[in-house]
Amino acid sequence: MSETKKSGGLAGVVAGQTAISTVGKEGVGLTYRGYSIDELAVEASFEEVAYLLIYGRLPERQELAGYRDRLRSMRGLSAALKSVLELLPAETNPMDVLRTGCSTLGCLEPEGKLRDAFQAADRLLASLPSMLLYWWHFSRDGQRLETQTDDASIAAQFLHLLKGKPADEMHVRALDASLILYAEHEFNASTFSARITASTLSDFHSAITSGIGTLRGPLHGGANEEAMALIERFKTPEEAEAGLMAMLARKELIMGFGHRVYKISDPRSGVIKNWARKLAVASGDARIYPISERIEAVMWREKMMFPNLDFYSAAAYHFCGIPTPLFTPLFVIVRTSGWAAHIMEQRENNRLIRPTADYFGPEPRPFVPIDKR
Ligand code: COA
Repeated sequence: MSETKKSGGLAGVVAGQTAISTVGKEGVGLTYRGYSIDELAVEASFEEVAYLLIYGRLPERQELAGYRDRLRSMRGLSAALKSVLELLPAETNPMDVLRTGCSTLGCLEPEGKLRDAFQAADRLLASLPSMLLYWWHFSRDGQRLETQTDDASIAAQFLHLLKGKPADEMHVRALDASLILYAEHEFNASTFSARITASTLSDFHSAITSGIGTLRGPLHGGANEEAMALIERFKTPEEAEAGLMAMLARKELIMGFGHRVYKISDPRSGVIKNWARKLAVASGDARIYPISERIEAVMWREKMMFPNLDFYSAAAYHFCGIPTPLFTPLFVIVRTSGWAAHIMEQRENNRLIRPTADYFGPEPRPFVPIDKR
């Protein structure tokens, strides 16, 4: 590996300050505003966590009920937004649909006199699932979905809109836990990119759009879809082991493993693995979960690498009946809460984010006009 690559990627660089989350570098200690992710993922709901992140403190019972009502009331899509979504072809990457949807909302309902950043954040959280699933159904079978549902939570609404019937309670609980785990993660690439956009004093929707574009890549959010594709490639754990060994021999990246910050384990992985196991039992699975565990064992034995959140999220989402192309968009929907918190924090004490680079190009040289070259 070259020196440039080793020192690149801002690895280990403290790029700013935050009071929103600690990543727990040693594999434990991931907290959102001081609350442990282990407790939040078991005892809180995603809406409670979104409130905590965006509004800075846990809601009281009444406040949470009011917040749920507010989000519920913001699920509808305007005719203009629907017509934009209807123009997007079925083969569009669903991440691009959300990027476009967010950008369109920024034109139709811009942050400004009528809508402050908090309202813009809540509206996006409430309407991104609607946009995604409206386009999903319309582009496949021309169905114009009613997105203003009464479902109690974002998890329940997502599964309801996806499947066209009220969701299984266990699936809702599993999805809700995963949404909590995905909500926030300090200065990851997409959050940093949202903060950079916010630091130029740009608008809320532009900052979130930057985050979506950054999350799309397989080294970041896209890893959960790639992990599913890997798992589904094999029929048995033995086949998976042989396949993995061959991939490692070719020095291929195994998606859903490794992490820039964590070196021992990903504190979110145990929670989602438990859900994947429970869902596997409930669905009578004898393939996806055993293959996932074998991949985990091979990666540990061969590379001492551990699964990150994306690896077992893939199996958990699969068992909830969520199509693989919607895995990373789900990540967008919830990470909007973390991005929103960071945009507001950046604005509170803003200074333009503008680092410098080590130049290694040509020495100064004379310019030769084109007709003399
Ligand atoms: N599979 C196989 N080898 C891996 C690997 C993986 N998933 N992740 C890292 N490595 C290897 C690298 O090839 C490198 O080997 P080398 O020193 O022989 O070149 C070494 O481990 C260090 O990796 P590096 O690329 O420096 O790590 P990074 O901090 O720059 O990258 C990730 C971190 C997350 C981008 C990287 O681990 C990765 O690509 N993982 C897969 C994608 C993924 O799951 N992303 C979601 C993250 S939550």
